[in-house]
Amino acid sequence: MRERDLSWHLSKDLPSTCFLLCLSEFLAHQGTDCWTYHYSEKLMNWQSARKFCQENYTDLVAIQNKREIEYLEKTVPFNRHYYWIGIRKIRNTWTWVGTNKPLAAEAENWGTGEPNNKKSREDCVEIYIKRTRDSGRWNDDACHKRKAALCYTASCQPGSCSGHGECVETINNHTCSCDAGHYGPQCQFVVQCAALETPELGSMVCTHPFGTFSFGSQCAFNCSEGTHLAGMEEAHCGPFGNWSSLEPTCHVIQCEPPTAPDLGSMDCTHPLANFSFTSTCTFSCSEGTELSGEKRTVCGSSGLWSSPPPICQRKFAQHTEDFKMG
Ligand SMILES: *[C@@H]1O[C@H](CO)[C@@H](O)[C@H](O)[C@H]1NC(C)=O
Repeated sequence: MRERDLSWHLSKDLPSTCFLLCLSEFLAHQGTDCWTYHYSEKLMNWQSARKFCQENYTDLVAIQNKREIEYLEKTVPFNRHYYWIGIRKIRNTWTWVGTNKPLAAEAENWGTGEPNNKKSREDCVEIYIKRTRDSGRWNDDACHKRKAALCYTASCQPGSCSGHGECVETINNHTCSCDAGHYGPQCQFVVQCAALETPELGSMVCTHPFGTFSFGSQCAFNCSEGTHLAGMEEAHCGPFGNWSSLEPTCHVIQCEPPTAPDLGSMDCTHPLANFSFTSTCTFSCSEGTELSGEKRTVCGSSGLWSSPPPICQRKFAQHTEDFKMG
């Protein structure tokens, strides 16, 4: 059916003649998703016509534009009883039964002098097809009257728009109104954000609901012991392809440099950075003095030394003097 603009499809197992309207230009993009029309040969009241359409197709036709009417007028055969369509008077308002929306004035397509509610209770709507006067137009008629059913099958399917958009029926096709962060004719693409990197001296854990570093991705950052995080602990990829924040950086915790004791000296090692986490200082006292306190101190992960610097005290100075004098 791909090669022809208009394709007729005669179904053996359905109690009606059906036909497909697929323009090849749409087929090229859409595969087989098509808005298709079907009609019954059997006559029935409006209620039964609706049931027939709902059971076999989607619903009674909901005519949306002039092109659609022209198409129906051209392709549906004449039936002297004409065809029920999906409009009904509900609480005195003409309503599209499929959507339950009132018929807008600009969408009206009544025949001359219609709707006339001639015998009152003309609460259902038929379309004239191949009539000498007002062909393709609508007429209100009593719902119990027997006419053919004019049905359609929706183009939108549960998988249309890739599950990331709202599917909107169009005459022989559908269009997708994509959710935030998704795009493409079938909403099949997801907005990408730049890849983030694990900070030095830290870690990163990400979740990617739609694709790696894409809309909806979330990353949480942690800095290793003895470092502090500068920036945000969490970043998420928004619908415009930008992150809520950049990766944070991990800075090594600093300790206040200690002072060497009077009469002593200090020797420090710095595995990570000057006077920072894991830096170690060793103190020694000059001859004749004695160290009081801890000989070694280590810069801890909270930025404090394990102990204060020691003091160097003169050894027995007082006693020596006393002894000499005696
Ligand atoms: C992306 O950038 C816009 C404008 O600069 C900003 O308003 C928005 O919050 C950003 N997205 C996220 C996820 O933060």
